[in-house]
Amino acid sequence: MTPHEHGLAAIGDTGLDRLPEAMRGLDELALATTAEVLRRAGLFRPGVRHAPEQVLDRLRVAPRHRWIARGWLRALVEEHLLRRDPASGLLHDLSPTTPVAEVRARVPELCARLGYPPAVSAFFLAAAERLPALLRDEIAVQSLLFDAGDTAAADGAYRGNVVNTYLNAVVAAVAAERLPTSRRARVLEVGAGVGGTALPLLAALRGRDLEYVFTDVSRFFLDSAPGVLGGDPRVRFALLDVNDPAATPPVPDADLVVAANVLHNAVDVRDVLRRARSWLRPGGALVLVESGRELRQASVSMQFLMSPAPGARPAGDGDLRAGQDRVFLTRDEWTAELGAAGLHVRTALPPTDHPLDALGQFAVIAERPTPHPNRS
Ligand SMILES: C[S@@+](CC[C@H](N)C(=O)[O-])C[C@H]1O[C@@H](n2cnc3c(N)ncnc32)[C@H](O)[C@@H]1O
Repeated sequence: MTPHEHGLAAIGDTGLDRLPEAMRGLDELALATTAEVLRRAGLFRPGVRHAPEQVLDRLRVAPRHRWIARGWLRALVEEHLLRRDPASGLLHDLSPTTPVAEVRARVPELCARLGYPPAVSAFFLAAAERLPALLRDEIAVQSLLFDAGDTAAADGAYRGNVVNTYLNAVVAAVAAERLPTSRRARVLEVGAGVGGTALPLLAALRGRDLEYVFTDVSRFFLDSAPGVLGGDPRVRFALLDVNDPAATPPVPDADLVVAANVLHNAVDVRDVLRRARSWLRPGGALVLVESGRELRQASVSMQFLMSPAPGARPAGDGDLRAGQDRVFLTRDEWTAELGAAGLHVRTALPPTDHPLDALGQFAVIAERPTPHPNRS
């Protein structure tokens, strides 16, 4: 079976054709709730025009979250719910949206269709309800995502749902195929977090001779990970910041570097990809899982995790995303950046003509080339 077939087998018959519609339903939650926040702040009364920065000032958006609020305004304009005067850039005429109560009522069913457990829909609803306070940095989104230290919502966001089940199975199939069997294989995972990828990957590699180094920039995840992974003796834990130019890899010459939903945190993506390349042995591969576009739903939930700490450089500040108020690179941009960093793309899934592509996430496997034998 190919990795794509492994992925499809893992999700089984899940009504793939209805997934884009479910995503659209979650988009509507984002549009309706952001429009409601603007209205409640007394913005966009009939005949009134505002500059985007005035809107942000009125909402008292914390400096680090201003990019998120600018994204909301852009989304409302793109969806023809808000008008933008092309000459002046002033915004006006906010249209009525689906009532917030109506979209909120649909969220648990939409989430269930996408394979998200109730903890994820509860998180989406809690975040949508607290948007003004989130914007002002009066509460941290982490307090909603990890409610009383519970990781169920984060687990469900990265594992067990339809798209991540597919992608994790793809990653596991690629790892099973590529890792050497004649010696102990070396895997380095960066930004391993709640273990959304590590768990299924280690399960798929059960019985294989393996050294798996589970790393993250945050001590919080390293403390909880041993419990999550059930004391697997093949796993070691280490702190690693992919943005740190002085970071030394805790495993030399990795056969595989796994980076699931983390490399968009790069301040300079090419720099980080070059670093990841240097951690691989020639012929080894980087397995990347990413979102290829800003999801409207994420703009009222997960994006609050992606704002820089006060005073820190934002993701993308040193690369092609600079000044664009976005964190994600498209699939084509990843392909180009991987190439520029000296990594050759071997596979990218799901195929772009598959219904799963509408969910916006993908896996890319890129290899560090082996030196040509005839070249010194
Ligand atoms: C969206 S979560 C994904 C977690 C995990 N890969 C999964 O799929 O379940 C992103 C993770 O990247 C980590 N992270 C963020 N910035 C990082 C950095 N500069 N270096 C390493 N890890 C980072 C976060 O702490 C978090 O655990």
